[in-house]
Amino acid sequence: MAEKELIEQLKVGGIVSIRDYLLEQQAKGLKIARTESGDPSFAIPDNVKIAMNKALSEDKTHYTAGAGIAELRKAIFKRSTEHNQLHLNSFANVIITNGAMNALFGVFHAIVDHKAYKILVPTPTWTETATNVTEVGGTPVFYKFDPFSKTPIDLNELENLVCEDDKIKALIINSPHNPTGKILDLANLKSIIAFCQKHGLFLISDEAYEQVTFDGIKHISPASLSDYDKMITIFSFSKSYAMSGVRLGCVCTKHESILKKLSKIVRCSINGVSSVTQWGGVSAVLETPQSYFDVNLAEYTKRRNAIYEGALKSPFLNPVKPEGTFYLWCKIDANWRPDIKENRSWYMTLEYLKLGVGSAPGEVFGPGGANHIRFSFSCSTADVLFAAEQLPKLV
Ligand SMILES: Cc1ncc(COP(=O)(O)O)c(C=O)c1O
Repeated sequence: MAEKELIEQLKVGGIVSIRDYLLEQQAKGLKIARTESGDPSFAIPDNVKIAMNKALSEDKTHYTAGAGIAELRKAIFKRSTEHNQLHLNSFANVIITNGAMNALFGVFHAIVDHKAYKILVPTPTWTETATNVTEVGGTPVFYKFDPFSKTPIDLNELENLVCEDDKIKALIINSPHNPTGKILDLANLKSIIAFCQKHGLFLISDEAYEQVTFDGIKHISPASLSDYDKMITIFSFSKSYAMSGVRLGCVCTKHESILKKLSKIVRCSINGVSSVTQWGGVSAVLETPQSYFDVNLAEYTKRRNAIYEGALKSPFLNPVKPEGTFYLWCKIDANWRPDIKENRSWYMTLEYLKLGVGSAPGEVFGPGGANHIRFSFSCSTADVLFAAEQLPKLV
């Protein structure tokens, strides 16, 4: 396929158009809750600010090794071994990327490798996951992710999809899951690993929200459960340390060929991540006090409870109680405007905009998002409390 055609196929996140509209309304002085997108309202940890300033004043501003500075790779190796219990061999199994987005792009690129391979992607999904598969010339094959079920991923459906198509080479999971807030439990994860092993598929685990879990539910990294060598774990600094604009993420895997390809892709696309950012990352991993996470989680919990309660008060929203992430996912009740047959989530988003509440229509998260709507609670607590009050006012 010609490059132009490929790029024309890419979908730019629908949430961006909603954000632009909200910013316009805000500029006019209207009260608006920025509950459409997922950017933590918190500041990055002080220790990270100090480390970045120090790197600048010590002139650590030159090219770094393509796969990242050894200090950061070692820090992530230590944390992912001790905290996530990944079975890695050494820091050579860690590659530094420009956020998890860049990690997804690199991993998909390494797997698809210009062979038009396909990757199993949940639906609903964070839009850019599917877009990245397309961007590297692959095809996303959607499988259903049902947050209302105890086992959101149906193994029978996956079996059928794989048996019908030998171009499928990988399965991506994302737990805690954007947009539904669902966390995959131990039994789910074990059966998914066994499935990937049986079919020789790569298991890509996007763990961008690993630190945001509620009610004592533990996030489990699938790569802590097995020595299967085709497991790839992706982490982000955007949500855990609120470093979304600083841009930092990484890939952890023992798979030699993926590591080799990914190093080349990172080297020849971004030529390494900003040195100052990487030094900030070392401090984020090694020096961030537990209190930083505790304080943020307490605030997220307050917001989660408020917005969930607000949604429960509306006869038109059937919410999933978020187990993790900072997203509330709701099914739109059939009794809401039965005259509207198509694009119902877009209509509801527009109605909530009139009430000063930002949201993301379920349709932007793929076919499985139709008839759903997502509210984010990563913006300020005041915004979330305002949104919670507005949710039941929809008619
Ligand atoms: C599921 C998921 N993965 C990855 C990312 C990207 O994170 P980063 O900012 O590290 O690129 C996001 C961002 O919202 C996300 O929701």
